[in-house]
Amino acid sequence: MIGDGRTDKDRQLDDVRVDYRDTALTTDQGIRVDDTDNSLRPGERGPTLMEDFHFREKITHFDHERIPERVVHARGAAAHGYFEPYDDSLAAFTRAEFLTSPRTRTPVFVRFSTVAGSRGSADTVRDVRGFAVKFYTQQGNFDLVGNNMPVFFIQDGIKFPDFVHAVKPEPHNEIPQASSAHDTLWDFVQLQPETTHMMMWLMSDRALPRSYRMMQGFGVHTFRLVDAEGRGTFVKFHWKPKLGIHSLVWDETQKIAGKDPDFNRRDLWEAIETGNFPEWELGVQLVAEEDEHAFDFDLLDATKIIPEELVPVRPVGRLVLDRNPDNFFAETEQVAFHIGNVVPGIDFTNDPLLQGRLFSYLDTQLIRLGGPNFTQIPINRPLADVRNHHRDGYHQMTIPRGQASYHPNTTGGGCPAVGGPGAYTHFQERVDGHKIRKRSGSFADHYSQATLFWNSMSAWEKEHIVAAFRFELGKVVQTHIREGVVRNLNNVDHDLAALVAAGIGVAAPPAPAVPNHGRTSPALSQAHAPVQSA
Ligand code: HEM
Repeated sequence: MIGDGRTDKDRQLDDVRVDYRDTALTTDQGIRVDDTDNSLRPGERGPTLMEDFHFREKITHFDHERIPERVVHARGAAAHGYFEPYDDSLAAFTRAEFLTSPRTRTPVFVRFSTVAGSRGSADTVRDVRGFAVKFYTQQGNFDLVGNNMPVFFIQDGIKFPDFVHAVKPEPHNEIPQASSAHDTLWDFVQLQPETTHMMMWLMSDRALPRSYRMMQGFGVHTFRLVDAEGRGTFVKFHWKPKLGIHSLVWDETQKIAGKDPDFNRRDLWEAIETGNFPEWELGVQLVAEEDEHAFDFDLLDATKIIPEELVPVRPVGRLVLDRNPDNFFAETEQVAFHIGNVVPGIDFTNDPLLQGRLFSYLDTQLIRLGGPNFTQIPINRPLADVRNHHRDGYHQMTIPRGQASYHPNTTGGGCPAVGGPGAYTHFQERVDGHKIRKRSGSFADHYSQATLFWNSMSAWEKEHIVAAFRFELGKVVQTHIREGVVRNLNNVDHDLAALVAAGIGVAAPPAPAVPNHGRTSPALSQAHAPVQSA
């Protein structure tokens, strides 16, 4: 950050900003154009001539304007800003400088999104919201790619295609757009009881944020902080909005979706334009390595929270968004977040969902952004220097100089030494085991925390949740799917199941003889149950 309030990233982007006002129109080759309304033709009534290079270029460029939208989180809105830590207290746990140098303002670019709908869908749908933050740190880019809910639908990345296929519009008719009220989602839900905790969040008012500025964010997974000596500490990341957490009610969301489908996008844009810069506090929950097994759930299970009564959230810094993008496509659309972008001092854990994501983001961006050089797109470029032996590929935007693009070499000079101070070293976790497709036993507890969530709700919040289940399941055509979901809910809370059942025309199951806190999964014994590992 420099004295004029602009960040180093703003300054870096100056090189690529172009302003067309009051300038003559040119072709992409820089040739001034004499007429952009009338194509070239022989005589007043003749055909358009191929040699009209301006016509051809204009049409061709238009024809190629579209790139694939994101396979999930296609609809989003983003803004620039900065992050600053309050103090250096995290230095005892991590060597990530942007988290520990209080005088450092790290530029950020933050994208909020819905998950299921397409780029043109409405903002105020019932859905999870993405909360993705790219920190342009001096040690390289760090991306915290989170959501506004602290848990997730599934426990293993390998299920993600199945989950997304179930939640997205159905393949035969592409209905419904951006809604979870349809058979395939709820069929998946009834057959995969690990979705239950997240479905409770999804049916709550958290799925209807009034504003991106009034939304929490969560890194969801357990990550690791790593100190200068290589010691690790488990960490969960939390964002808390300074404006508090506020939701719309269902009826409002429906009306707003009709009147102003850009409601959340417009709100963020206008707040920043009018100087009402949104702000969040970053908090962390820290767990010592030796306490890895101290809980009755597995820290590697992304369908579980660490209750704040057990591990309080410790505030560490603030995030401020103070500048709107100049161009939606160049910035909001082309930005590429990746959970694998980490800086020294932050590392992964073996959470099987996290591990799946590590593969997925780069892979999808290679096709979405047209090849391996998308990190050179201005919004994705780090502030830190980039020097390596990667070579060529579509859209190479830099001109690497010299003979050598291999290591080791004696031909090039100037090739980077491997390692050196500040190099990323992976946390030296000992891993030992047979190759199996199983997870630890507590992964099979699908209900305890769903019950915890339900019990923490006030009466009116419970009413909203029941109403949401009734509305969504009421759109499900096949009765056995409705029944299956109600059976799962019976393991969360019998009253909840009975209330939902009464609203969707299915019989309430009897109350479980022993209140089931999910140590087993009765719904799995049903005919359609998949084989569960655990
Ligand atoms: C995109 C969050 C799980 C694959 C995103 C985005 C967010 C996000 C916020 C939007 C990024 C943007 O604004 O550009 C999460 C969270 C997850 C999760 C919090 C679970 C805790 C997964 C899993 C996979 C996956 C398990 C696959 C194994 C993708 C893909 C994209 C995406 C392919 C599109 C990326 C792009 O085209 O740039 N995710 N996601 N996600 N996510 Fe996830």
